[in-house]
Amino acid sequence: MNVLIIGSGGREHAFAWKIKQSKKLSNLYVAPGNAGTSVIATNVAIHPTDFDAIKKLVLEKNIELVIVGPEDPLVEGIHDFFLADEQLKSIGIIGPKKDGAQLEGSKEFSKKFMVKNNIPTAKYATFTVETLQDGFHFLESLEPPFVLKADGLAAGKGVLILDDLQAAKNELTEMLTNKKFGAASTKVVIEEFLHGIELSVFILTDGNSYKILPSAKDYKRIGEGDTGLNTGGMGAISPVPFADDAFLKKVEEQIVKPTITGLKKQDIDYKGFIFIGLMNNNGNPYVIEYNVRMGDPETEVVIPRIESDLLDLFEGVAHQTLHEKEIKISDKTATTVMLVSGGYPEDYEKGKEISNLENVATSLIFHAGTKLENNKVVTNGGRVIAVTSLANSIEEALQISFTNAKNIDFENKYYRKDIGKDLLNFVEKQS
Ligand code: AMP
Ligand code: GLY
Repeated sequence: MNVLIIGSGGREHAFAWKIKQSKKLSNLYVAPGNAGTSVIATNVAIHPTDFDAIKKLVLEKNIELVIVGPEDPLVEGIHDFFLADEQLKSIGIIGPKKDGAQLEGSKEFSKKFMVKNNIPTAKYATFTVETLQDGFHFLESLEPPFVLKADGLAAGKGVLILDDLQAAKNELTEMLTNKKFGAASTKVVIEEFLHGIELSVFILTDGNSYKILPSAKDYKRIGEGDTGLNTGGMGAISPVPFADDAFLKKVEEQIVKPTITGLKKQDIDYKGFIFIGLMNNNGNPYVIEYNVRMGDPETEVVIPRIESDLLDLFEGVAHQTLHEKEIKISDKTATTVMLVSGGYPEDYEKGKEISNLENVATSLIFHAGTKLENNKVVTNGGRVIAVTSLANSIEEALQISFTNAKNIDFENKYYRKDIGKDLLNFVEKQS
């Protein structure tokens, strides 16, 4: 089978690495890819939302399956585009249509969906510029901290958490009246703050049946001790030691099953990943958000723990035969530490040569923001390299990731040295 992966991050490199191992694979293409994917697949310089160029490539290379990494093409309707085209409609797409992608593309849609399907989530209300005063009153009725969310996609920046009521009112005004996040903040969801510890659960579904993939915890803030600005993710661990069988059973019964049946009830034929961001509040799961794709860097710890043939599972999704497939998950712990460009998530420089990559034998190296320049691998983004290790314990896996994170080098390299450290307490408690 000829396969195309859309995207250019660590997530897409991890998909490519795994799919490359499948006996079912003939040729693998990544659009646009990075220096890491260029070694194991053919990179094609196409932007993920340039659907016409994607069509041309798919027809030219006889591609039979397309895996959509990031959310933008999904929210913009790549799956619908394929279905509406005579030449493309039989090609399998891993990723929902526009209707399903609203679970991520609109916070209001996803909150309504959860309420309709009795899925535990924070109390909320939605406001527009016309109902700004009602928004102020709603804020007054809540306890701090206050959670404000731009309804639409805002490149991961649309959620604000504020301790002070006046600051929350000011931000609400900024979002609604002054369009702080452009069209994305035409509507704003205000919700109750959930206390607890976060983790993510991932499912792969063909619309009828589903497979639960390994759970993961990521580290979103730039600074150690979860301080500073939010990033795309600075590292991840899988499995999550506090997500025991009893908790995961609750997740399946209270969240996963009603999500799948809720989509069917709304006639949303969903084929792809659902990434469920959860809060564990005293052993009870609440949904913080849905994403309609895999997480990054969560993919870099989830995929290496899947022992089954990923392409075979994807075929099951495309042909709605997922119920016939088995998914085998490794007992090992996977850790990933993200090396980033100094300055990220604010301004940073690109084009720094990356050294010592070839000397890494004990970790899996997934490229994120890299490219080849005169046959050298150079930095090409904020998040640069994910260093993933698999071992029998978190401590052991972390030690390998940190050793390699230290050795791989580029000017102004930065990484968090406390990834996973908060989870060691849970491991000690359990044993
Ligand atoms: P989201 O984009 O909805 O995942 O929000 C980004 C981050 O904000 C989440 O990963 C949480 O850390 C935090 N967050 C969002 N909603 C809430 C909430 N209701 N209570 C507490 N933290 C939240
Ligand atoms: N790591 C969080 C995300 O992919 O949204």
